[in-house]
Amino acid sequence: MQMKADVAVIGTGVMGSNLARNLARSSGHRVAIYDRDLARAQSVATDFPEAEFIVASSPADLADKLAGPRVAILMVNAGRATDSAIADLTEVFAPGDIIVDGGNSHFQDTIARGRRLEDTSIEFAGVGISGGEVGALLGPSLMIGGSAAAWERLRPLLEPIAARAESASADDSGAVADSESPAVSGAVADPGAACVAHIGTDGAGHFVKMVHNGIEYADMQLIAEAFTLLRDGLGIAPTEIAEVFARWNDTELESYLVEITADVLAHVDAASGRPFVDIVADAAKAKGTGAWTAQAGLDLGVPVPTIAEAVFSRSLSSAVDLRAEGRRLEGPRPHTDAVPGGTVAVTTVPDGDERAARIDEIGRALLLGKVMAYVQGFHEISAGADEHGWEVDLGELASIWRAGCIIRARLLDRIVDAYGTEARAATLLADGYVRDVAGRCQDALRSTVIRAIGRGIPVPGLASTLAYYDGLRTEAGSAALIQAQRDRFGSHTYARKDRPGVFHTLWSGDRSEVEI
Ligand code: 6PG
Repeated sequence: MQMKADVAVIGTGVMGSNLARNLARSSGHRVAIYDRDLARAQSVATDFPEAEFIVASSPADLADKLAGPRVAILMVNAGRATDSAIADLTEVFAPGDIIVDGGNSHFQDTIARGRRLEDTSIEFAGVGISGGEVGALLGPSLMIGGSAAAWERLRPLLEPIAARAESASADDSGAVADSESPAVSGAVADPGAACVAHIGTDGAGHFVKMVHNGIEYADMQLIAEAFTLLRDGLGIAPTEIAEVFARWNDTELESYLVEITADVLAHVDAASGRPFVDIVADAAKAKGTGAWTAQAGLDLGVPVPTIAEAVFSRSLSSAVDLRAEGRRLEGPRPHTDAVPGGTVAVTTVPDGDERAARIDEIGRALLLGKVMAYVQGFHEISAGADEHGWEVDLGELASIWRAGCIIRARLLDRIVDAYGTEARAATLLADGYVRDVAGRCQDALRSTVIRAIGRGIPVPGLASTLAYYDGLRTEAGSAALIQAQRDRFGSHTYARKDRPGVFHTLWSGDRSEVEI
């Protein structure tokens, strides 16, 4: 009789088959695979014989081939495919079995699915998985949402397949520019720890994965703007910009996204001989998780402007008709003209030391932007946790983002430090490293944005980050007038600075003030 499998993976597309191979290789468990397209599952088993997959031909066959209590990990598209896979399994699974959704599901869907399964006593866990195809195979970052009992059961299966974060030393800050600030002290917790954590109940794992993706959108947008400033503002060719990014990746800007940017920019299109980035259409697509993050920020009343601008920028890039018309609008143009061959003809650009200083300035602007994207993301997670009753350990979350996931970055070591010291820093803004970066980089962000605006180069990510930064710093902003306007036209009341209470002015009457 064939041995039973310890875990099943449902859906054998690239992500599913890679995760299944990782499970078979790293955890030493026997893995069953199932796909509605049986031929696809069979060919995965044939292509990777070392995994010794047990192929199931139907949900009932899968239930039969799994040892109890059963664990099945769904690696299917978010939405309808996830619902129908859950429906299939519900018919054949028993109380105590666990269905894990490893897709990019919306956290509210995850909460609702868990509730629907309550009557069946089948456990449901929503797991955020980051790292793309390679991560799924070699070690992703895993964010677990579900009951403590489900986590206990999943832990021995998922810990071995997760990425491992290397230890980081306290003195490797590798400042992007000369810094007079002292080295940030304190080493990172859990050297070599598996990048998997129980984030909280029901939708917690998918919520933090959503915000991970929002930070990813922001970071990609900021990097893309830095590229545009180097190319259109300074007239540097993509292949040389690749070297700038590669150099930056040896500083505290070090991150997966900066690393792959250098790689992408160095790539030359074989068909045309032009820089690859010049032949890719200037219209970015999106699957929706960035928009969800912006929407959740709006719902929670948490400002996430850099993330939202990143989403809007993708929308603007794809608004073909609008852009065709918009091209005719008045305004300054960058002093550059693309010429055949992929080089750039430049009329006036700085050179020598000034050019180097401008590159450094853009690097520092990018660093502060990156840090502020994390500040916004962690603020949203904190607020989401309060709203939904999740006890998210922000330091642990930062720790499991240090490897495997798309937003892995050297600066996460500092965020781990920030949340690890004192009881728990109220926000990242109180942290020494964040303040240090702000001190070293705010002037660079400011000059970069001013220059870009003067040249008509759109930098919505950097500009909104600067507005956010200045908004945070402002002692007396514009909200008082807004509040007064609200009371003037809609009797919406206001608070006073000088005494507690809720007040309304009788605008249409004698303009006296009443306390509500
Ligand atoms: C990850 C990624 C992944 C996401 C892609 C594409 O963590 O592995 O975030 O989940 O699907 O980044 O996202 P968009 O198509 O929305 O850009």
